[in-house]
Amino acid sequence: MKRTYIKDLVTHTGEEVSISGWVNIRRDQGKMVFFDMRDMTGTVQCVVLPTKIEAIENAKMMRPEWVLQITGKVNKRPEKNINTEVQNGDVELEVNNIEILNEAITPVFDVTSDGKEIGEVNRLTYRYLDLRRPRMQKNIRHRHKLVKFIRDYLDKENFIEIETPILSKSTAEGARDFIVPSRLEKGKFYALPQAPQQYKQLFMASGMERYFQMAKCMRDEDLRGDRQPEFTQLDLEMSFVGREDVMELNEKLLIALVTELYPEKKIQQIPFPRISYKEAIEKYETDRPDIRENKEDPNLLAFCWIVDFPFFEKTDKKTNPNATGEWTFTHNPFSGAQPEYEKDLLNKENIPNILTNQYDIVLNGSEIGGGSIRNHKPEALLAVYEIMGVSKTEAEKNLFYMLEAFRSGTPPHGGIAWGLDRLVMLLENEPNIREVMAFPKNGEGKDLMMDSPSEVSEKQLKELGIKLGK
Ligand code: AMO
Repeated sequence: MKRTYIKDLVTHTGEEVSISGWVNIRRDQGKMVFFDMRDMTGTVQCVVLPTKIEAIENAKMMRPEWVLQITGKVNKRPEKNINTEVQNGDVELEVNNIEILNEAITPVFDVTSDGKEIGEVNRLTYRYLDLRRPRMQKNIRHRHKLVKFIRDYLDKENFIEIETPILSKSTAEGARDFIVPSRLEKGKFYALPQAPQQYKQLFMASGMERYFQMAKCMRDEDLRGDRQPEFTQLDLEMSFVGREDVMELNEKLLIALVTELYPEKKIQQIPFPRISYKEAIEKYETDRPDIRENKEDPNLLAFCWIVDFPFFEKTDKKTNPNATGEWTFTHNPFSGAQPEYEKDLLNKENIPNILTNQYDIVLNGSEIGGGSIRNHKPEALLAVYEIMGVSKTEAEKNLFYMLEAFRSGTPPHGGIAWGLDRLVMLLENEPNIREVMAFPKNGEGKDLMMDSPSEVSEKQLKELGIKLGK
Protein backbone atom coordinates (compact mmCIF):
# COMPACT_ATOMS: atom_id res chain seq x y z
CA MET A 1 0.00 0.00 0.00
CA LYS A 2 1.23 3.50 -0.84
CA ARG A 3 2.43 5.57 2.11
CA THR A 4 0.16 8.34 3.39
CA TYR A 5 1.72 11.30 5.20
CA ILE A 6 0.32 11.88 8.65
CA LYS A 7 -0.79 15.42 7.81
CA ASP A 8 -3.07 14.03 5.08
CA LEU A 9 -4.85 11.41 7.22
CA VAL A 10 -8.00 13.50 7.71
CA THR A 11 -8.67 13.42 3.98
CA HIS A 12 -8.67 9.59 4.20
CA THR A 13 -11.26 9.26 6.99
CA GLY A 14 -12.98 5.90 6.75
CA GLU A 15 -10.24 4.43 4.55
CA GLU A 16 -7.47 1.93 5.15
CA VAL A 17 -4.03 3.57 4.91
CA SER A 18 -0.36 2.87 5.51
CA ILE A 19 1.81 5.28 7.49
CA SER A 20 5.52 5.19 8.34
CA GLY A 21 7.35 6.94 11.13
CA TRP A 22 8.50 6.88 14.75
CA VAL A 23 6.74 5.98 17.98
CA ASN A 24 6.37 9.37 19.65
CA ILE A 25 4.63 8.49 22.92
CA ARG A 26 3.16 5.19 24.08
CA ARG A 27 0.38 4.66 26.58
CA ASP A 28 -0.21 1.04 27.52
CA GLN A 29 -3.72 0.76 28.93
CA GLY A 30 -3.86 -2.91 29.78
CA LYS A 31 -5.93 -4.52 27.10
CA MET A 32 -5.57 -1.71 24.58
CA VAL A 33 -2.48 0.19 23.55
CA PHE A 34 -2.56 3.85 22.58
CA PHE A 35 0.43 5.54 21.01
CA ASP A 36 1.30 8.55 18.90
CA MET A 37 3.10 8.11 15.61
CA ARG A 38 5.26 10.85 14.16
CA ASP A 39 6.55 11.52 10.66
CA MET A 40 8.01 14.68 9.13
CA THR A 41 4.52 16.07 8.65
CA GLY A 42 3.13 15.63 12.15
CA THR A 43 1.65 13.23 14.69
CA VAL A 44 -1.44 11.09 15.01
CA GLN A 45 -2.92 8.97 17.78
CA CYS A 46 -3.07 5.25 17.07
CA VAL A 47 -5.07 2.66 18.93
CA VAL A 48 -4.59 -1.11 18.95
CA LEU A 49 -7.62 -3.11 19.98
CA PRO A 50 -7.19 -6.38 21.93
CA THR A 51 -8.72 -8.35 19.05
CA LYS A 52 -5.68 -7.64 16.83
CA ILE A 53 -3.53 -10.33 18.44
CA GLU A 54 -0.35 -9.85 16.41
CA ALA A 55 -0.49 -6.07 16.40
CA ILE A 56 -1.10 -5.92 20.15
CA GLU A 57 1.95 -8.13 20.74
CA ASN A 58 4.14 -5.75 18.76
CA ALA A 59 2.54 -2.72 20.37
CA LYS A 60 3.26 -4.02 23.87
CA MET A 61 6.90 -4.61 22.96
CA MET A 62 7.69 -1.40 21.12
CA ARG A 63 9.25 1.66 22.74
CA PRO A 64 9.57 5.37 21.94
CA GLU A 65 11.58 6.10 18.77
CA TRP A 66 11.10 2.67 17.25
CA VAL A 67 10.53 2.91 13.51
CA LEU A 68 7.28 1.39 12.26
CA GLN A 69 5.17 0.90 9.22
CA ILE A 70 1.53 0.67 10.16
CA THR A 71 -1.60 -0.15 8.28
CA GLY A 72 -4.90 0.81 9.79
CA LYS A 73 -8.19 2.55 9.36
CA VAL A 74 -8.65 6.29 9.83
CA ASN A 75 -11.61 6.71 12.18
CA LYS A 76 -13.43 9.83 13.24
CA ARG A 77 -13.00 10.19 17.00
CA PRO A 78 -16.11 9.99 19.17
CA GLU A 79 -17.41 13.53 19.88
CA LYS A 80 -16.18 13.53 23.50
CA ASN A 81 -12.60 12.64 22.46
CA ILE A 82 -12.18 15.33 19.84
CA ASN A 83 -9.30 17.70 20.62
CA THR A 84 -9.33 20.75 18.38
CA GLU A 85 -6.03 22.01 19.83
CA VAL A 86 -3.81 19.35 18.22
CA GLN A 87 -3.14 18.14 14.70
CA ASN A 88 -5.38 15.17 13.80
CA GLY A 89 -7.33 15.83 17.00
CA ASP A 90 -10.56 14.69 15.33
CA VAL A 91 -9.28 11.35 13.96
CA GLU A 92 -7.30 8.35 15.13
CA LEU A 93 -5.76 5.39 13.41
CA GLU A 94 -7.21 2.00 14.31
CA VAL A 95 -4.22 -0.27 13.80
CA ASN A 96 -4.49 -3.50 11.80
CA ASN A 97 -0.86 -4.37 11.40
CA ILE A 98 2.47 -3.14 12.75
CA GLU A 99 5.69 -3.85 10.95
CA ILE A 100 8.78 -3.03 12.99
CA LEU A 101 11.31 -1.50 10.58
CA ASN A 102 13.90 -0.79 13.26
CA GLU A 103 14.21 -0.77 16.99
CA ALA A 104 15.72 2.07 19.00
CA ILE A 105 17.75 2.14 22.19
CA THR A 106 16.27 4.36 24.88
CA PRO A 107 16.99 7.92 23.69
CA VAL A 108 19.46 9.83 25.89
CA PHE A 109 16.92 12.62 26.20
CA ASP A 110 13.32 13.43 25.45
CA VAL A 111 12.96 14.36 21.77
CA THR A 112 9.35 15.49 22.09
CA SER A 113 10.00 18.53 24.32
CA ASP A 114 11.37 21.87 23.09
CA GLY A 115 14.78 20.79 24.43
CA LYS A 116 15.46 23.96 26.39
CA GLU A 117 15.81 21.91 29.57
CA ILE A 118 18.59 19.72 28.09
CA GLY A 119 22.29 20.57 28.36
CA GLU A 120 23.94 21.64 25.12
CA VAL A 121 26.71 19.04 25.32
CA ASN A 122 24.11 16.29 25.06
CA ARG A 123 22.10 18.08 22.42
CA LEU A 124 25.12 18.57 20.16
CA THR A 125 26.63 15.13 20.79
CA TYR A 126 23.38 13.46 19.76
CA ARG A 127 22.38 16.11 17.24
CA TYR A 128 20.61 13.61 14.96
CA LEU A 129 18.24 12.93 17.87
CA ASP A 130 18.01 16.58 18.88
CA LEU A 131 16.92 17.46 15.35
CA ARG A 132 13.89 15.18 15.79
CA ARG A 133 12.28 17.58 18.28
CA PRO A 134 9.43 19.69 16.85
CA ARG A 135 11.20 23.01 17.49
CA MET A 136 14.30 21.95 15.55
CA GLN A 137 12.23 20.40 12.77
CA LYS A 138 10.39 23.71 12.49
CA ASN A 139 13.55 25.83 12.48
CA ILE A 140 15.30 23.74 9.82
CA ARG A 141 12.19 23.51 7.64
CA HIS A 142 11.49 27.24 7.92
CA ARG A 143 15.11 27.90 7.00
CA HIS A 144 14.60 25.85 3.85
CA LYS A 145 11.49 27.87 2.97
CA LEU A 146 13.39 31.11 3.46
CA VAL A 147 16.31 29.98 1.29
CA LYS A 148 13.92 28.81 -1.39
CA PHE A 149 12.04 32.09 -1.29
CA ILE A 150 15.29 34.02 -1.75
CA ARG A 151 16.40 31.79 -4.62
CA ASP A 152 13.10 32.17 -6.45
CA TYR A 153 12.98 35.91 -5.84
CA LEU A 154 16.49 36.54 -7.10
CA ASP A 155 15.99 34.24 -10.07
CA LYS A 156 13.03 36.42 -11.10
CA GLU A 157 15.28 39.47 -10.70
CA ASN A 158 17.71 37.96 -13.25
CA PHE A 159 20.32 36.77 -10.75
CA ILE A 160 22.06 33.44 -11.19
CA GLU A 161 23.48 31.29 -8.42
CA ILE A 162 27.13 30.36 -8.95
CA GLU A 163 29.29 28.30 -6.62
CA THR A 164 32.78 29.43 -5.72
CA PRO A 165 35.73 27.36 -4.48
CA ILE A 166 36.12 26.24 -0.90
CA LEU A 167 39.82 25.53 -1.40
CA SER A 168 40.90 29.11 -1.83
CA LYS A 169 43.73 31.46 -1.02
CA SER A 170 44.76 33.18 2.18
CA THR A 171 44.10 36.93 1.89
CA ALA A 172 43.97 39.58 4.59
CA GLU A 173 40.21 39.99 4.98
CA GLY A 174 39.87 40.76 8.62
CA ALA A 175 39.58 37.48 10.51
CA ARG A 176 42.02 34.61 10.86
CA ASP A 177 41.97 31.99 8.07
CA PHE A 178 41.46 28.27 8.36
CA ILE A 179 44.20 26.75 6.22
CA VAL A 180 44.48 23.41 4.43
CA PRO A 181 47.85 21.86 3.63
CA SER A 182 48.54 20.83 0.04
CA ARG A 183 49.88 17.30 -0.56
CA LEU A 184 50.96 17.95 -4.14
CA GLU A 185 52.88 21.09 -3.23
CA LYS A 186 54.31 20.39 0.16
CA GLY A 187 54.73 23.45 2.34
CA LYS A 188 51.93 25.30 0.57
CA PHE A 189 48.44 25.87 1.82
CA TYR A 190 44.95 26.65 0.64
CA ALA A 191 42.75 28.81 2.81
CA LEU A 192 39.04 28.29 3.35
CA PRO A 193 37.12 31.39 2.20
CA GLN A 194 36.08 33.93 4.84
CA ALA A 195 33.61 35.11 2.19
CA PRO A 196 33.48 34.81 -1.61
CA GLN A 197 34.29 38.53 -1.87
CA GLN A 198 37.00 38.41 -4.52
CA TYR A 199 35.36 35.66 -6.56
CA LYS A 200 32.12 37.59 -6.76
CA GLN A 201 33.88 40.72 -7.90
CA LEU A 202 35.67 38.64 -10.52
CA PHE A 203 32.23 37.43 -11.70
CA MET A 204 31.46 41.07 -12.43
CA ALA A 205 34.67 41.19 -14.47
CA SER A 206 33.37 38.05 -16.22
CA GLY A 207 30.15 39.71 -17.34
CA MET A 208 27.84 37.69 -15.05
CA GLU A 209 26.30 41.01 -13.97
CA ARG A 210 23.99 39.57 -11.29
CA TYR A 211 25.35 36.81 -9.06
CA PHE A 212 24.18 35.30 -5.81
CA GLN A 213 25.03 32.28 -3.71
CA MET A 214 24.18 30.61 -0.43
CA ALA A 215 27.83 30.69 0.50
CA LYS A 216 29.64 28.82 3.25
CA CYS A 217 32.13 31.11 4.98
CA MET A 218 34.84 30.08 7.41
CA ARG A 219 36.49 32.37 9.95
CA ASP A 220 38.75 31.34 12.78
CA GLU A 221 37.31 33.76 15.34
CA ASP A 222 36.32 33.55 18.97
CA LEU A 223 32.75 32.32 19.12
CA ARG A 224 29.62 33.96 20.47
CA GLY A 225 25.91 33.26 20.35
CA ASP A 226 25.62 34.88 16.94
CA ARG A 227 28.98 33.71 15.60
CA GLN A 228 30.11 30.35 14.31
CA PRO A 229 33.46 29.41 12.70
CA GLU A 230 31.47 28.17 9.73
CA PHE A 231 28.32 30.02 8.71
CA THR A 232 26.20 30.81 5.67
CA GLN A 233 25.85 34.06 3.79
CA LEU A 234 23.37 35.07 1.19
CA ASP A 235 26.07 36.64 -0.93
CA LEU A 236 25.23 38.79 -3.93
CA GLU A 237 26.86 41.19 -6.35
CA MET A 238 25.51 43.40 -9.15
CA SER A 239 27.07 45.33 -12.02
CA PHE A 240 26.24 48.87 -13.15
CA VAL A 241 24.62 49.83 -9.85
CA GLY A 242 24.93 52.49 -7.17
CA ARG A 243 24.31 52.26 -3.45
CA GLU A 244 20.58 52.98 -3.82
CA ASP A 245 20.05 50.09 -6.26
CA VAL A 246 21.59 47.50 -3.96
CA MET A 247 19.84 48.81 -0.87
CA GLU A 248 16.47 48.98 -2.64
CA LEU A 249 16.68 45.43 -3.96
CA ASN A 250 17.64 44.04 -0.55
CA GLU A 251 15.00 46.02 1.29
CA LYS A 252 12.29 44.79 -1.10
CA LEU A 253 13.49 41.21 -0.74
CA LEU A 254 13.46 41.40 3.07
CA ILE A 255 9.96 42.92 3.12
CA ALA A 256 8.65 40.33 0.65
CA LEU A 257 10.03 37.39 2.60
CA VAL A 258 8.71 38.62 5.94
CA THR A 259 5.28 39.30 4.42
CA GLU A 260 5.13 35.93 2.72
CA LEU A 261 6.74 33.64 5.31
CA TYR A 262 6.19 35.45 8.61
CA PRO A 263 2.80 37.17 8.23
CA GLU A 264 2.45 37.32 12.03
CA LYS A 265 5.42 39.70 12.22
CA LYS A 266 5.25 43.46 11.90
CA ILE A 267 7.98 45.56 10.33
CA GLN A 268 8.30 48.70 12.46
CA GLN A 269 9.10 51.14 9.69
CA ILE A 270 9.05 51.04 5.88
CA PRO A 271 11.12 52.29 4.13
CA PHE A 272 13.80 51.12 6.58
CA PRO A 273 15.24 54.14 8.38
CA ARG A 274 18.79 55.14 7.48
CA ILE A 275 21.14 56.15 10.22
CA SER A 276 24.62 57.49 9.64
CA TYR A 277 27.47 55.80 11.47
CA LYS A 278 28.14 59.07 13.29
CA GLU A 279 24.54 59.41 14.45
CA ALA A 280 24.39 55.77 15.50
CA ILE A 281 27.45 56.14 17.69
CA GLU A 282 26.32 59.46 19.17
CA LYS A 283 22.75 58.41 19.82
CA TYR A 284 23.02 54.66 20.52
CA GLU A 285 26.74 54.17 21.24
CA THR A 286 26.79 51.29 18.77
CA ASP A 287 26.74 50.83 15.01
CA ARG A 288 24.06 48.17 15.34
CA PRO A 289 21.32 49.92 17.29
CA ASP A 290 18.19 48.18 18.49
CA ILE A 291 15.57 50.74 17.53
CA ARG A 292 12.50 48.67 18.46
CA GLU A 293 9.77 50.81 20.02
CA ASN A 294 8.69 47.85 22.14
CA LYS A 295 11.33 45.29 23.03
CA GLU A 296 8.75 42.97 24.67
CA ASP A 297 7.04 42.22 21.37
CA PRO A 298 8.55 39.05 19.84
CA ASN A 299 6.90 39.82 16.50
CA LEU A 300 8.29 43.31 15.97
CA LEU A 301 11.05 43.65 13.37
CA ALA A 302 12.98 46.92 13.44
CA PHE A 303 15.24 47.01 10.41
CA CYS A 304 17.56 49.93 9.78
CA TRP A 305 20.42 50.73 7.45
CA ILE A 306 23.67 52.14 8.78
CA VAL A 307 25.51 54.23 6.20
CA ASP A 308 28.37 56.72 5.88
CA PHE A 309 31.04 54.69 7.64
CA PRO A 310 34.56 56.07 7.83
CA PHE A 311 36.79 54.20 5.37
CA PHE A 312 39.84 53.92 7.61
CA GLU A 313 40.55 53.69 11.28
CA LYS A 314 43.79 53.67 13.23
CA THR A 315 45.22 50.18 13.50
CA ASP A 316 44.57 48.13 16.59
CA LYS A 317 47.10 45.31 16.32
CA LYS A 318 45.32 43.40 19.05
CA THR A 319 42.11 43.02 17.09
CA ASN A 320 43.59 42.84 13.62
CA PRO A 321 46.50 40.41 13.46
CA ASN A 322 47.01 41.20 9.76
CA ALA A 323 47.58 44.92 10.31
CA THR A 324 50.73 46.26 8.67
CA GLY A 325 50.53 50.04 8.88
CA GLU A 326 49.10 52.94 10.80
CA TRP A 327 45.69 52.78 9.09
CA THR A 328 43.42 49.88 8.37
CA PHE A 329 40.06 49.50 6.63
CA THR A 330 36.97 49.55 8.84
CA HIS A 331 35.10 46.95 6.78
CA ASN A 332 36.57 45.78 3.56
CA PRO A 333 39.55 46.81 1.43
CA PHE A 334 37.46 46.44 -1.72
CA SER A 335 34.89 49.11 -0.87
CA GLY A 336 34.93 52.35 -2.80
CA ALA A 337 34.99 55.84 -1.35
CA GLN A 338 31.83 57.94 -1.59
CA PRO A 339 31.94 60.05 -4.79
CA GLU A 340 32.97 63.28 -3.02
CA TYR A 341 35.95 61.51 -1.40
CA GLU A 342 37.24 59.63 -4.45
CA LYS A 343 39.84 62.30 -5.07
CA ASP A 344 41.04 62.25 -1.46
CA LEU A 345 41.43 58.48 -1.67
CA LEU A 346 43.50 58.66 -4.86
CA ASN A 347 45.64 61.47 -3.36
CA LYS A 348 45.82 59.69 0.02
CA GLU A 349 44.70 62.89 1.72
CA ASN A 350 42.13 63.70 4.40
CA ILE A 351 42.27 60.02 5.41
CA PRO A 352 40.30 60.11 8.70
CA ASN A 353 37.39 61.87 6.99
CA ILE A 354 37.02 59.69 3.90
CA LEU A 355 33.61 57.98 3.97
CA THR A 356 33.01 54.63 2.28
CA ASN A 357 30.13 53.34 0.22
CA GLN A 358 29.58 50.67 2.87
CA TYR A 359 26.06 49.94 4.13
CA ASP A 360 25.08 47.60 6.95
CA ILE A 361 21.63 46.21 7.56
CA VAL A 362 20.67 45.86 11.21
CA LEU A 363 17.67 43.99 12.64
CA ASN A 364 16.64 44.36 16.30
CA GLY A 365 20.19 45.26 17.30
CA SER A 366 21.91 42.52 15.32
CA GLU A 367 24.04 43.10 12.23
CA ILE A 368 22.43 40.84 9.66
CA GLY A 369 24.29 42.04 6.59
CA GLY A 370 26.76 44.40 5.07
CA GLY A 371 28.11 45.39 1.71
CA SER A 372 29.32 48.23 -0.45
CA ILE A 373 29.86 49.69 -3.86
CA ARG A 374 33.41 48.65 -4.75
CA ASN A 375 36.44 50.17 -6.31
CA HIS A 376 36.50 48.97 -9.89
CA LYS A 377 39.57 50.98 -10.92
CA PRO A 378 43.03 49.64 -10.14
CA GLU A 379 44.39 53.02 -8.94
CA ALA A 380 41.71 53.25 -6.27
CA LEU A 381 42.35 49.75 -4.92
CA LEU A 382 46.10 50.39 -4.90
CA ALA A 383 45.53 53.65 -3.01
CA VAL A 384 43.57 51.79 -0.31
CA TYR A 385 46.49 49.41 0.17
CA GLU A 386 49.04 52.22 0.13
CA ILE A 387 47.14 54.06 2.87
CA MET A 388 47.32 50.86 4.89
CA GLY A 389 51.11 50.71 4.44
CA VAL A 390 51.21 48.12 1.65
CA SER A 391 53.44 49.31 -1.19
CA LYS A 392 52.26 49.30 -4.79
CA THR A 393 54.76 46.54 -5.62
CA GLU A 394 53.56 44.42 -2.73
CA ALA A 395 49.88 44.94 -3.60
CA GLU A 396 50.55 44.17 -7.29
CA LYS A 397 52.21 40.95 -6.16
CA ASN A 398 49.39 39.84 -3.82
CA LEU A 399 46.38 41.01 -5.79
CA PHE A 400 47.66 40.74 -9.35
CA TYR A 401 44.57 38.87 -10.53
CA MET A 402 42.18 41.50 -9.11
CA LEU A 403 44.20 44.37 -10.53
CA GLU A 404 44.54 42.65 -13.91
CA ALA A 405 40.78 42.06 -13.94
CA PHE A 406 40.17 45.72 -13.10
CA ARG A 407 42.43 46.66 -16.01
CA SER A 408 40.48 44.37 -18.33
CA GLY A 409 37.10 46.09 -18.47
CA THR A 410 35.47 45.52 -15.09
CA PRO A 411 32.18 47.43 -14.80
CA PRO A 412 31.21 49.46 -11.73
CA HIS A 413 29.70 47.04 -9.25
CA GLY A 414 28.59 46.48 -5.68
CA GLY A 415 26.84 43.98 -3.48
CA ILE A 416 26.07 42.73 -0.03
CA ALA A 417 26.16 39.62 2.12
CA TRP A 418 23.54 38.69 4.69
CA GLY A 419 24.32 36.55 7.70
CA LEU A 420 21.67 33.99 6.85
CA ASP A 421 21.90 32.12 10.16
CA ARG A 422 21.44 35.36 12.10
CA LEU A 423 18.41 36.37 10.08
CA VAL A 424 16.73 32.99 10.58
CA MET A 425 17.62 33.09 14.30
CA LEU A 426 15.83 36.43 14.71
CA LEU A 427 12.82 35.44 12.62
CA GLU A 428 12.41 32.22 14.61
CA ASN A 429 12.81 34.09 17.92
CA GLU A 430 15.80 31.96 18.87
CA PRO A 431 18.50 33.32 21.17
CA ASN A 432 21.39 31.61 19.37
CA ILE A 433 22.36 30.76 15.77
CA ARG A 434 23.12 27.19 16.84
CA GLU A 435 19.34 26.66 17.06
CA VAL A 436 18.89 27.27 13.35
CA MET A 437 21.94 25.35 12.05
CA ALA A 438 21.79 21.59 11.56
CA PHE A 439 25.28 20.74 12.81
CA PRO A 440 26.82 23.72 14.60
CA LYS A 441 30.07 23.76 16.56
CA ASN A 442 29.99 24.31 20.31
CA GLY A 443 31.40 27.39 22.06
CA GLU A 444 34.94 26.02 21.76
CA GLY A 445 34.61 25.42 18.03
CA LYS A 446 34.20 21.66 18.40
CA ASP A 447 31.86 19.33 16.57
CA LEU A 448 30.83 17.22 19.56
CA MET A 449 28.98 14.65 17.49
CA MET A 450 31.92 13.71 15.25
CA ASP A 451 34.51 14.72 17.82
CA SER A 452 36.25 17.15 15.52
CA PRO A 453 38.83 18.66 15.29
CA SER A 454 40.67 15.40 15.83
CA GLU A 455 44.14 14.00 15.38
CA VAL A 456 45.15 12.57 12.02
CA SER A 457 47.39 9.58 11.34
CA GLU A 458 51.17 9.72 11.10
CA LYS A 459 50.78 8.59 7.49
CA GLN A 460 48.54 11.54 6.58
CA LEU A 461 50.95 13.99 8.18
CA LYS A 462 53.90 12.43 6.37
CA GLU A 463 52.15 12.69 3.01
CA LEU A 464 51.62 16.36 3.67
CA GLY A 465 55.20 16.90 4.80
CA ILE A 466 54.05 18.08 8.22
CA LYS A 467 55.91 17.47 11.47
CA LEU A 468 54.09 18.41 14.66
CA GLY A 469 55.98 20.33 17.34
CA LYS A 470 56.09 18.82 20.81
P1 AMO B 1 30.76 40.70 6.58
O1 AMO B 1 32.07 40.25 7.08
O2 AMO B 1 30.15 41.91 7.22
O3 AMO B 1 30.81 41.06 5.02
O4 AMO B 1 29.73 39.49 6.69
C1 AMO B 1 28.39 39.62 6.26
C2 AMO B 1 27.43 39.15 7.35
O5 AMO B 1 27.74 37.81 7.74
C3 AMO B 1 27.38 37.61 9.11
N1 AMO B 1 28.53 37.04 9.83
C4 AMO B 1 28.49 35.95 10.62
N2 AMO B 1 27.48 35.13 10.94
C5 AMO B 1 27.75 34.08 11.75
N3 AMO B 1 28.99 33.79 12.21
C6 AMO B 1 30.05 34.58 11.91
N4 AMO B 1 31.27 34.28 12.35
C7 AMO B 1 29.82 35.73 11.07
N5 AMO B 1 30.62 36.70 10.55
C8 AMO B 1 29.82 37.49 9.81
C9 AMO B 1 26.96 38.95 9.66
C10 AMO B 1 27.53 39.92 8.65
O6 AMO B 1 26.77 41.10 8.57
N6 AMO B 1 32.20 40.06 1.79
C11 AMO B 1 31.52 40.96 2.72
C12 AMO B 1 30.15 41.35 2.21
C13 AMO B 1 30.17 42.34 1.07
O7 AMO B 1 30.86 43.37 1.17
O8 AMO B 1 29.46 42.09 0.06
C14 AMO B 1 31.39 40.26 4.05
O9 AMO B 1 31.70 39.11 4.23
O10 AMO B 1 25.54 39.02 9.66
